[in-house]
Amino acid sequence: MLLPLFERLEASAIGEAVRGSLWLFPIVEAFHLIGLAVIGGAILVVDFRLLGLTLRSHSVSRLAHDMQPWVVSSLVLMIVSGIPLFLSEAIKCYYSFAFWTKMTALLGAVLFTFTLRRVVAGAPEGRYSPTWNRAVALTSIALWSTVGWGGRWIGFSG
Ligand code: HEM
Repeated sequence: MLLPLFERLEASAIGEAVRGSLWLFPIVEAFHLIGLAVIGGAILVVDFRLLGLTLRSHSVSRLAHDMQPWVVSSLVLMIVSGIPLFLSEAIKCYYSFAFWTKMTALLGAVLFTFTLRRVVAGAPEGRYSPTWNRAVALTSIALWSTVGWGGRWIGFSG
């Protein structure tokens, strides 16, 4: 049912243009990697603070507030750069377990980041127990790491 849609997406003008160019895929993927570095950094700063590993002189809520614009803008960059990469190899992605793992983890990571994690990280100091803070941080790191691994794994999956 989905395959005809993915075939049409791969045959799209953007898909053709990226596939037909020697430089477009690596240039777009370079922006994808820049976005990855920024979103990774902005997420980990708050998660490491929630784990009590670093920046203990800063309140979690202050850090979460300051990192929010970086998370949002780099997420937009990842989606805007990911779509042309995807369109250039949509059929490969359709058959790629790595792609579906990544997209499922990405949906979970975005939902978790903008709901539960946002509430816990935005709360006044001490509202939630250290165990709860650690559980939220480890879940966040696991979800976003799966997205990254899935992305790298697509490239290895033929
Ligand atoms: C925050 C969200 C995202 C993260 C953290 C992420 C992460 C990654 C990583 C680490 C790579 C491997 C880059 C490399 O090794 O050169 C990658 C490649 C890729 N990503 Fe993403 N990505 C995200 C969003 C997206 C979205 C929304 C799409 C599609 C709609 C997408 C589609 C792709 C594709 C097609 C590749 C190329 C795989 C290949 O090498 O053939 N990504 N991504």
